[in-house]
Parts: sequence; structure tokens; C-alpha cells
Amino acid sequence: MSEAFKAAWAQLAKHSDPTLADLFAADPQRVDKFTGRLELGEGGILFDWSKTHLTDALIADFTALAEAAGFDEMRRRMFAGEVVNPTENRAAEHSALRGVGREASVEEAAALRERMKLLVQAIHDGALGEVKHLIHVGIGGSALGPALAVDALGRDLALVDVHVVSNIDGVALEEAFAACDPQTTLLAVASKTFTTIETMTNAQSALDWLAANGVADPAGRVIALTAAPEKAVEWGVDETRILPFAESVGGRYSIWSSIGFPVAVAIGWEDFQAFLDGAAAVDRHFRDTAGAANLPLRAAFSDLYYARIKGAETRAVFAYDERLGLLPDYLQQLEMESNGKSVTAEGDPVDGPTAPITWGGVGTDAQHAVFQLLHQGTHLVPIDFIASIAPGDALDPAHHRILLMNCFAQGAALMAGKQSEDPARSYPGNRPSATILCDDLDPATVGALIAFHEHRTFANAVLMGINPFDQFGVELGKEIAKKIEKGGEQFDPSTEALLAKAGLAG
Ligand code: F6P
Repeated sequence: MSEAFKAAWAQLAKHSDPTLADLFAADPQRVDKFTGRLELGEGGILFDWSKTHLTDALIADFTALAEAAGFDEMRRRMFAGEVVNPTENRAAEHSALRGVGREASVEEAAALRERMKLLVQAIHDGALGEVKHLIHVGIGGSALGPALAVDALGRDLALVDVHVVSNIDGVALEEAFAACDPQTTLLAVASKTFTTIETMTNAQSALDWLAANGVADPAGRVIALTAAPEKAVEWGVDETRILPFAESVGGRYSIWSSIGFPVAVAIGWEDFQAFLDGAAAVDRHFRDTAGAANLPLRAAFSDLYYARIKGAETRAVFAYDERLGLLPDYLQQLEMESNGKSVTAEGDPVDGPTAPITWGGVGTDAQHAVFQLLHQGTHLVPIDFIASIAPGDALDPAHHRILLMNCFAQGAALMAGKQSEDPARSYPGNRPSATILCDDLDPATVGALIAFHEHRTFANAVLMGINPFDQFGVELGKEIAKKIEKGGEQFDPSTEALLAKAGLAG
């Protein structure tokens, strides 16, 4: 890490600690100053960081840090399709999938997307016979994005009933079988590598289920979504039903590739394209906006202030919208798999904490379960509240009104606190939150929300000097599982005892 980078961090640690109440009292323009808006054609998203401890002085010092960290150059490299993942010598070209990036990659992605569009439309037109259900097997980045997007956007209008199955636990697949008619079910096998044991085992069992239930050509019902098409061919998928994507697209950034196939099948091509376009609007904003007006970068300033300067070990995300119930799960992988690192991009030990633990839930449910700790517990937990002004339901407007009022009330209560003579009834207040308020939760907005978080995660990584695009930490456990399966190796006494107890000792 350069001396300038270290000095910028040292400078950030010198700030005093005004309370949120002090900050509001001192600056009548605070709401305007710390609020940003992203325009998305018909609607948009408002970001309000005024209830965080960001100040003009902190923003200035974080901006200096971004400069010292070479943020502009790293961002340029990412959009240019240059190597930004040095440990794997790879680019990270997820934005090219939505049309923003290196020209050749954008063109290649457009051609692959056209191929996917034809298949999706053929399915909707009945070319593969009647299709009522789609079982999508995949895990991690090959499942969390499709699950989130289908759940958020496919609720009312799903053209096809999609089931995303990730867990190797057969209970998950059996649940999907119980909900699907094999005669009208397609099987999507989603795996970047096409080797992941959970996915390949589930795929085989789903294929067996189709065969056992009298489907004449089970292999003909399979669509492969992968960056390793040759492996899909080996596995027996016909080339015409393989939808490839580029190696330079990371698993947790792959919802925009053919991994998004079940989303397009569920919501139709036009809405899927709108989902990509919403993400592309964020790409252009992130690529072209300098300094703190850049919304993902500003979010990273807030994240890093709490995680690195104030030592917050977690950050919480509460979606006050049932349709975003899976967003915390999605963000857990995006943020923790990207930035849960202990070494810098150069391989040196980091000199501060990296990604906090991302967790969360839906409001108002979470209020009645975990908010006690947020209001009165001893942990510092910066919170993001996410909501939509337009309702997702057609019931009495009271539902949505109460939902939104509760969302805003929680942010207000966390900040204001309340003193009481009885310590058990006192609220310390001065607890930070940001609010992300969407005009509506349409496909473009959901795409934009996801892309905003991708770039926020990247900005966090650059300002910590780490590589967000590798994930070697997931490998060791997989290796040991393979050794256990192979047998003949001795492990620690606890593991040996557990294996023996479960009848799995080699
Ligand atoms: O084990 C982690 C991981 O490699 C993720 O990064 C990835 O999204 C997931 O497994 C699934 O991998 P694949 O798409 O290759 O099956």
C-alpha cells in the first residue's frame, strides 16, 4: 500500500464524533446535501445518508482516500475489461452484459443475449411443448440472483412457475418436485464451471425424476447455463440448448448473463431487458460521475466509516417490501464473498477490518424480532432501509401506508433515542441508518438496486486495497469434503468422531 493511501486512512481516523442530532442542528441543508437521486427513465431511486455520521469533512477525506487508492484508474480498468482480478488474471465484465463496457465484450454479450432471447421466446411460443414449470438448479451466484429477481418481479405475472433449487439436501429438490408436473417441466442447470457437486447431483436427480415420471426425452428438457459449454456437452446437453456466458463474469455477478434465463422465462423478455437497462443506468452513473456525487462510492464512504473507523462488525439491510425478502441473502454473498478478505490485492496483510457481516430481513417482521438489539443493544450496526413508494399489493392502501410509516419511524427512533429515568426504558439514540427509497419496484429499479450494490462493493474493495473478484476462501472446505468422500485419510479427532457417529468413516 502506498504511503499516500496509509496517510489518507490515518487522516480519516482523526475525526471527532458529533452526534447525528448535532449534525442536523449545525446544518439546515443536511438532508439535501446527503441525499442523492438516481434517475431511471420513468422512475428513480432516492438515497438518503443524512442519518449517517458522514460530514463534509469526512467526505473530503474519503475523496482524498479514493484518489490515493487509485479509484478512478481501477474503475476505468474494470469498464475497459482490463485485469482487475490479479490473483486469477481476469477482468470483471458483468457491466458488459448490460451494454456498458469494452466494446468487443459488449458485442459478444449482445450476441449471446440474442440467442437466449430466441430460446426464451420459443419457450413462450410453445416450441418445446407446454411449459408450466421450470426447475432451476444452481448454487451461490448461480442461484441467489435468479431467486431474488424471480421472487421480486415474478409474483403477479409469472408466465412460468419457477423453482430455484440450490441445496444438496434432497429435501429442497423434493419440494420442487411436489410443486411441478413433470410433463410440463423444464430443467435449467446453472453452473459457471459445470462441475459444482451440489448442482450436478441435483441436476442428475431432476433428470432421473423426469425419466421416472414418463417424460419421453428427459435430456431434451434440459437447458444449460454455463461458462463451460464443453462440459455441458459432455454431460449430455444438446448444443442448441446451451446458453453460454463469458469466463470474465464472476459467479456472484452473473444474474445478467444466461444465469438470468429463469428470470426472463418467468417475467418475459421485455421486462428482463428493462431489468438489464436499469442496471446499465447505474453503470453509466458509476462510470461517469466524479467524486462524492457518485452514489455507490458515497455509500462505500459510509460503509467504510462504520466498519473501519468505528469498528462495526456487521451491517444490516431491512427491505420494507416483501418482494425484496431475498435481498439480504443476495447481498450476503455479494459483499461477504467479494470483500471478506485478509490480504490486499498485492498479497500483504490488510491493516484494518474488511467486509462487515451483512445480515438483515424484511420490515415490519424484523421489528418484532431483532430490532430490540438495534435500539438498545451494545453493538454498533449501520442499517440500510429499502422501500418503494408505490405499493406492490392491491389491498386497502392502509397496508402500504403503515409499512412505509414504520420504515421511516424506525430510522427516526434509532437516531433520536429517548431518555427515561428507568434505564431499561432508555434508548441511547444516535444510531445510524440510510434509506433507499424507490419510486416503484419495477424491473428497471430491481436491476438498478442490484447494480448499485455491485458497484458499492467494488468501491469498498478499492478503498481497502483488496481484490473483490476472487473467492479462494470457499475452496478448502470443498477439498476436505472430497477427501472425506474418497476415504483413507485421517482428520482431527472431533471430525473423525462425527464421521464415525454418522456412519461415514472411511
Ligand atoms: O463455492 C462458491 C462458488 O464458487 C461461488 O462463487 C459460485 O457462485 C458458486 O460456488 C457456484 O459455482 P458454479 O456456478 O460454478 O456452479
